[in-house]
Amino acid sequence: MAPRIRVIANQKGGVGKTTVTVQLASTVADTIGARDGQVPVLGVSTDPQASMLEWAGRVGAALPFDFEQCVDPAALARLRRLDQYAHVFVDTPGSLDNEGLLSEVLRQADEVIVPIEPEAMAFGPAARTIRQVIAPTGVPYRVLINNWDPRDGDHDLRETQEYLAAEGFPSFNTVIRHYKLHARAAAEGVTVVQYARNRVALEARQDFFRVALEVLGNDGQPARHRGVNGVYTAAGGR
Ligand SMILES: Nc1ncnc2c1ncn2[C@@H]1O[C@H](COP(=O)(O)OP(=O)(O)OP(=O)(O)O)[C@@H](O)[C@H]1O
Ligand SMILES: [Mg+2]
Repeated sequence: MAPRIRVIANQKGGVGKTTVTVQLASTVADTIGARDGQVPVLGVSTDPQASMLEWAGRVGAALPFDFEQCVDPAALARLRRLDQYAHVFVDTPGSLDNEGLLSEVLRQADEVIVPIEPEAMAFGPAARTIRQVIAPTGVPYRVLINNWDPRDGDHDLRETQEYLAAEGFPSFNTVIRHYKLHARAAAEGVTVVQYARNRVALEARQDFFRVALEVLGNDGQPARHRGVNGVYTAAGGR
């Protein structure tokens, strides 16, 4: 069976694409566990800047999922054939000049996760990515609010949630909060799975568990079907 492919995309830089990809892939891998000794989760970085590659390298053997750095559109076109995996999470570059690569990845995707920070300046770039790049492909997407600091109060968070609702952009119920632990994770070479078992770390980790539940919750939906040319058929609902 083809894996479920989730692409994490937003052409605005620094919104948490790599963070969400690594932490979500780790959480899902840790939660569903290895099958027959094989990890059923693959994380793919398609970002030439390779920040996920550096992070994965620092985590080393403790990385709970398999990892590939791949910027070759031809190789990315074969993602759906990797049936040894149940779930694939794909990190994408935060830049407007990689649309070719992004389009290829989106052709493979079952869902797009669009991280956004809860601030008005983030709205325009996210809306552009959704309207110009994601929506035209017909691939379902959900916006994920990331990096909300509760100490700032909930004004900006509410404004962001109201904006998403007003635009009709589907979004996750879970909001990923800002934690220093997440900010340091890449440099320290850890994922949520390696966080210490103290209260703050468990809280930080919980956000990704909740998103993972929401993500996997959609797996009960009928699988999408593709025609030979890679275009979704009517059975896929589009
Ligand atoms: N929930 C969070 N809590 C704390 N820090 C966070 C959180 N999410 C992201 N960050 C930090 O914000 C910065 C940008 O995050 P990240 O690198 O994941 O974004 P990106 O969208 O992948 O960026 P780029 O577009 O450059 O690839 C990083 O330093 C990361 O550690
Ligand atoms: Mg990144």
